[in-house]
Amino acid sequence: DTVDWDPEDAGKGEFDHYMKKEIHSQPTALSNTIEGRVEDGEVSLEALPAGSFTDIEEVQFVACGTSYHAAVYGAQLLKSAGVRADVIRASEYESVAGPVDETTLTVAVTQSGETADTLSAVREAADRGARTLAVTNVVGSTAAREADDAVYIRAGPEVGVAATKTFSSQAVTLALVGQRIVADVPAADHPDDAEAMLESLADLPEQVESILETTDAERLAKRYIDSQSFFFIGNGLGHPVALEGALKFKEITYEHAEGFASGQLKHGPLALVTEQTPVFAVCTGGDDGKTKTNAIEAQTRGAPIVSVSPDDHPVVDAADAHLSVPDTHPVWTGLLANVQLQLVSYYAADLLDRPIDKPRNLAKSVTVE
Ligand code: G6P
Repeated sequence: DTVDWDPEDAGKGEFDHYMKKEIHSQPTALSNTIEGRVEDGEVSLEALPAGSFTDIEEVQFVACGTSYHAAVYGAQLLKSAGVRADVIRASEYESVAGPVDETTLTVAVTQSGETADTLSAVREAADRGARTLAVTNVVGSTAAREADDAVYIRAGPEVGVAATKTFSSQAVTLALVGQRIVADVPAADHPDDAEAMLESLADLPEQVESILETTDAERLAKRYIDSQSFFFIGNGLGHPVALEGALKFKEITYEHAEGFASGQLKHGPLALVTEQTPVFAVCTGGDDGKTKTNAIEAQTRGAPIVSVSPDDHPVVDAADAHLSVPDTHPVWTGLLANVQLQLVSYYAADLLDRPIDKPRNLAKSVTVE
């Protein structure tokens, strides 16, 4: 007798899918990402010693898919500290990059380090004279080898096609690289609470663990599974999380999902809103009053609102359902909210019996342009 045996199954342990295993390995992945990189309230990155960026005047991120969302998050942090930063979808680089010179740092954000669009963008940037940095998970990948410098996110291997733990580790790594840049770039404003922000990072793995233990995501997925479309909104740092929440949802459930900046909802998407379109409102506790107002606009048209926020956030009172996010520095809240959204997508896809680890038509790493 023979038994069908897929060698990949051996690595799933107690979990039904790699995606679930990888969601649950985020506390460990994040601990590894952070380890040894924050000392006495300062960031220390081996590849990028203090003074690495004194010549840099502008940062541009190039990335695709989930990595693009991590890049939006990283760019926003830099901009809020007064550093000129831009995020470009790697496939569009050639047409939209604008002027580049040796004062430009082009950061390729790529889990695999092998995405053709991203490699082509970063090569183009180098040809135009930019300095390049790869932020990647795979040691020795093409991006890491070709860029002037590389910083590893240390998330460990990710098998599920839908990126989960690597988003979290990328976002944290980009925040750390961002702090390094802010410290070096003369024009930057050093945020007053940078030390508090770095200190609270140490609690992140434990806070992810507490979400994994207490989440209501499975119940919410069951409650809304028959809906027609799923909307995700957020503003500020909640925006990239909303985009990522929607991407994850569509990738693995095959249901229609869209992510918007909260204020964008009323400029078109509101026409689609009915009682059949739950709206997940990501609130980070930063400056995000717009999300509550716009969520209520959708609710007035019948849509159920799911707040994804700290329990004491004003949006919770208005919401029809709630996914709880532990209290942390507002810079990290969105990353915790994202874990709740990963779980909603996972349970929804499981209810629909989708092939969660290998969604149709998608590949883990896309090596054609
Ligand atoms: C593909 C994958 C996505 C991934 C994207 C970028 O589209 O399906 O999950 O986010 O590539 O991959 P990278 O390895 O460059 O981060």
